[in-house]
Amino acid sequence: MSAPTVVILAAGEGTRMRSRTPKVLHPLCGRPLILWPVLAALEAGAAKVVVVDNPTRRLAEVLPEGVEVAVQAEPRGTGDAVRAAAEHVDPGAPVVVLMGDVPLIAPATIAALVDAHDGAGATVATMELDDPAGYGRVVRASDGSVARIVETKVAGDATPDELALREVNTGVYAFDGGALLEALERVEPANAQGEYYLPDALPVLRAGGREVRAHLVEDAALTLGVNDRVDLAAIRALAQGRIHAAHARAGVTVVDPGSTLIDAGVRIGQDTTIEPSSFLRGETTVGEGCVVGPLTTLVDTRLGDGVTVPHSYLVEAQVADGASVGPFAYLRPGAELAERAKAGTFVEIKNSRIGAETKVPHLSYIGDADVGPQTNIGAGNITANYDGRRKHRTTIGANVRTSSNTVFVAPVTVGDRAYTGAGSTITEDVPPGALGIARARQVNRPGYAERREAGAADPPTGVRAERGD
Ligand code: UD1
Ligand code: CA
Repeated sequence: MSAPTVVILAAGEGTRMRSRTPKVLHPLCGRPLILWPVLAALEAGAAKVVVVDNPTRRLAEVLPEGVEVAVQAEPRGTGDAVRAAAEHVDPGAPVVVLMGDVPLIAPATIAALVDAHDGAGATVATMELDDPAGYGRVVRASDGSVARIVETKVAGDATPDELALREVNTGVYAFDGGALLEALERVEPANAQGEYYLPDALPVLRAGGREVRAHLVEDAALTLGVNDRVDLAAIRALAQGRIHAAHARAGVTVVDPGSTLIDAGVRIGQDTTIEPSSFLRGETTVGEGCVVGPLTTLVDTRLGDGVTVPHSYLVEAQVADGASVGPFAYLRPGAELAERAKAGTFVEIKNSRIGAETKVPHLSYIGDADVGPQTNIGAGNITANYDGRRKHRTTIGANVRTSSNTVFVAPVTVGDRAYTGAGSTITEDVPPGALGIARARQVNRPGYAERREAGAADPPTGVRAERGD
């Protein structure tokens, strides 16, 4: 059998979402809704995938290369939307129609539908729901084939008997390409919404002598539609459960799935543990044998193998094998930790490379810096990278030891094996192997306390100002 063309309907605005964002661009586990059926169709081996968009063409930028876009001029119904893609339909091949708002459709479900279709005029994927509200109901003929589908989105199309039917149209179909195009020519907008309904092509096909089959999908979760944000939340929970289960089966421990979010695009290596209340978002990649969390967020971040990250927030950061981050670290875009490096407690790093086995253990801000290997950054070090107009880089070599509270006023370079004195504000380069020390000398005044008690001493610096005299 020839591979199907898959047409995905997504031209509607989704008014029931009450949103300025088009419904199919709302994210579901980090991926726009429309991408879910598109990726499922590609994985199911579609010969061609066509997405029907409206004239604003807002979907093209999120679609993978090679996916075609057809434009429906006006939102005149799902039947009209399929017609907008007519030029892509091969009359000699099956056409699968998917809905842009039915995201959990699985590649295997599409393949099973195409198998069941096997030369019929149309095959409708159906599901049975305890609460079928909002879906089109499937009216079966006495021979078990599909007589028609009645819409229920607005009152007026369905009778009370039809409303009581629990078998519904999933919005997923296989058609004979040529027969579909002919049937759509005869569909009339004679219904409560005044729209061209795609399901109305089914009775036309029957009248033309073609068989219309129902293919019952056992796992209804696969074909639930998102019409409003209540649906979206319910489907998100299902999608998230599937993502967790797939990782668990692949050897990842998700300690508390209920408090853990893992987006669809996230990859995690074997024997990694995701501790509770952790959020792995976007295109994050985690290696093997890591411990992430508790209470850690990774956004578009890459972790190597054997990395630990408790209680931290990382965005567009890269952390190599054996490195450790946190607790309470903030790694911002362009933070790169080499092998076995450490970013410790209350440390913020941005757009900086931290060399192998280098440690930034406590209370530091490292921005726009290159730090060599096996260096130790003392507590409370700051790279002063901004002069009020521009950002400048700080370069710190290998095997450097900086003392507590060193400020590096960039641009500045500290050579290999150099040291800095505690409390130094380093404004000039420190040569390799040198000690850079830059602070006011301490003055001790002996006998000060006694003179003060006798009323003779000058007040200590600062006391005068505090008193306001
Ligand atoms: C549709 C089906 C219904 C089925 C349900 C399954 C019709 C008339 N009804 O109802 O039988 O139970 O899906 O989820 O087909 N769209 C366009 N252009 C349009 C109208 C819609 O591209 O002119 C797109 C929408 O963007 C959406 C999809 O088609 O992705 C479905 O439209 P929607 O209005 O949500 O249809 P439902 O009322 O859910
Ligand atoms: Ca819908």
